[in-house]
Amino acid sequence: MNNKGPIGIFDSGVGGTSIWRAIQAQMPMEHTLYLADSRNAPYGKKSKAEITALSVKNTEFLIAQGAKIIVVACNTATTNAIDHLRASYDLPFIGIEPAIKPAALQTQTKSIGILATQGTLSSALFAKTSETFAKDIQVIEVIGSGLVELIESDQIQSPEMLELLNKYLAPMKAAKVDHLVLGCSHYPYLIPLISSLLGKGVNIIDSGLAVARQTQRILTQHELLCEQQDPQHLFYTNGNPQVLKRLLADNTAPKQISYKDF
Ligand code: DGL
Repeated sequence: MNNKGPIGIFDSGVGGTSIWRAIQAQMPMEHTLYLADSRNAPYGKKSKAEITALSVKNTEFLIAQGAKIIVVACNTATTNAIDHLRASYDLPFIGIEPAIKPAALQTQTKSIGILATQGTLSSALFAKTSETFAKDIQVIEVIGSGLVELIESDQIQSPEMLELLNKYLAPMKAAKVDHLVLGCSHYPYLIPLISSLLGKGVNIIDSGLAVARQTQRILTQHELLCEQQDPQHLFYTNGNPQVLKRLLADNTAPKQISYKDF
C-alpha cells in the first residue's frame, strides 16, 4: 500500500461529506477521494445483497484510484456490508455505526432516541450493538423515511423536511429522550433544524469525529499517514454535482467536484 494515496470515502450520496469534513479537519494534509453514489440513493430501503453489491462497486472504484484506506461513510453500508468488504480486500476499512454506546452511558432519563434508515435499524450489527449497550434503557427507534431523498435533492430547508422531522421527533419528545443518536451520515446536515425542534435539553450525537479519529489511528498503525504539500480533495458523484457543491460551499479547502459514471 502506498501512503501517498488518498483516503477513499464513499456513501450512498452526499451525506458522507459530514464524515469527510471531520476527516479533512483531523488530517488536513492528506489527499482525499470521495464517492457519492447518489444515483443509487437511498441505500436504506435496499436488501443486504444489493447494499453489498453497491459497496463492492464503490470499493473497486476507490481501489482503482489508489485509495490506501476506505472509509465507509454510510451507516447502512457499514452495518450491512463491512464484514464482506473486510473479508474480500487487503486494505483497511473504517465504518460508521450509530453511536448507541455513548448515548446509553450518558443518559439521565434512561431514554434515548435513534433516527436511522430502515437498512441500519434492521441490520444484525445494529441489533447486536443495541443488545450489548442499551438493554437496560428505553430506545426509541425511528426510521427517517424520505429524509435522505430530500437532502439528495437539495431540500434541507423545505416545508416537507419540517413536516417529516416533526413527525419523526414526536415519539422522541413523548418519551423524554435526552440523547438523540443520528444513525445516518446524511442527518448531521439536519442538526440545526432538529435542535430547534427538540430544544436545548437533548444532546444530538453524530459519529463524524469518532470516525475521523479512528481513521487516523488505523493509518498510524499501518504506517500510512502522509503529509502532502498540496492536499487534493476530489469528489465524484454519479448524481447532480451542484448538490455536492452547494452542500460544501462553506468549506474552504480547495476541492474538485465532478460528475463521473461509476
Ligand atoms: N448516508 C447513509 C447512511 O449513513 C445512507 C442513507 C441511504 O442511502 O439510505 O445510512
